[in-house]
Amino acid sequence: MPEAGSLVNSWNEWDPLREIVVGVADNACFEPREPGYRPQLRTRDGRDAAFPTGPKPAEMIERATEQLDALALLLRSQGITVRRPEPPVLADAVRTPTFEVANQYCVVCPRDVMITLGNEILEATMSRRARYFEYQAYRKLVYEYWHADPGMEWTVAPKPSMSDAMYREDFWDWPLEKRHRKMRSFEFCVTQDEVVFDAADMSRFGRDVVVQESMTTNRTGIHWLKRHLEPRGFRVHPVHFPLDFFLSHIDCTFVPLRPGLVLTNPERPLREGEEQMFLRNGWELVDAPQPTSSNDEMPRYCQSSKWLSMNVLSLSPTKVVCEEQEKPLQDLLDKLNFEVLPIPFRDVFEYGGSLHCATWDINRVGMVEDYFPRLDYRPLAQQRGERVT
Ligand code: ARG
Repeated sequence: MPEAGSLVNSWNEWDPLREIVVGVADNACFEPREPGYRPQLRTRDGRDAAFPTGPKPAEMIERATEQLDALALLLRSQGITVRRPEPPVLADAVRTPTFEVANQYCVVCPRDVMITLGNEILEATMSRRARYFEYQAYRKLVYEYWHADPGMEWTVAPKPSMSDAMYREDFWDWPLEKRHRKMRSFEFCVTQDEVVFDAADMSRFGRDVVVQESMTTNRTGIHWLKRHLEPRGFRVHPVHFPLDFFLSHIDCTFVPLRPGLVLTNPERPLREGEEQMFLRNGWELVDAPQPTSSNDEMPRYCQSSKWLSMNVLSLSPTKVVCEEQEKPLQDLLDKLNFEVLPIPFRDVFEYGGSLHCATWDINRVGMVEDYFPRLDYRPLAQQRGERVT
């Protein structure tokens, strides 16, 4: 067990924050079309227009940089140590023995790639070619933490091939109705042949980790996480949101704010039965209010939904950073007795996320806790021979 004073130590999404990494927009490119992804223009009129390719224009990068830097400043003013990654050149084509892709994407959202689970830093496999090498931007920091903290464990999940065979390419051409039907049964563009997960599909609740099955995390990936984390004392709970048609990354859908309270998405309920784990253990699920923008009003190149409104960053169990425009959510948080720090962040939305996505916690004061003492959990060892779902 790690020491309470360790540098790398973060067991949940809400304990008092001491050290965090904030992404950077430099060198960012538009996400390329690839078997695992087809970017689309946001606005209704632009749906059929071609999505731009190559590096993002300098003024767009400047606008996002300003807001990311302002977040770093706000966090520092709260006594939190903020570190930043170093983006490599992202505009060049990438070629590996198993795939090629026109360019990389950006290093604005460390949350998607990196996760701290207690004293362990885990690098996700990732699910898209353009993000395969994104971990490299964080390696310098990871080495620093690893040298400075002898108790830190460092794990790199097995990299998938990302070859054509790993994807169901025709997924993107399925008519909407078929796509939605298939998605409800959790069939997406990534097959089950290889271990695939993005870090942002996980949410941390002490010894319990919730993982959503999504377009970016497959069942084989969840199985790998179980086999990796269970012997370390964690319990891994797969969850499903059958009505989410933007299904990737859990932090706009199911957002724990303090022990006993999860902010939930009223348009994306948990699959029936999966809420029991929370309700039986006295947790309250509180629906977020409607966001201030509709999906069509989101920034033109933004690939996420209006629910980026819910993508808040907790500084402690009583203090939350929230996007400036999202007044209805701020009012709700206020009623729930949180101190709210509003900050403008909409120019970052085109880079894959909002306040939670653009960060990766390294240290939160607090140790591992069991927030689900009444749990019907069967470790993998007991499930031998059964199909894991
Ligand atoms: N797929 C989510 C939505 O559109 C966006 C998730 C962003 N999260 C992140 N960690 N990048 O609602």
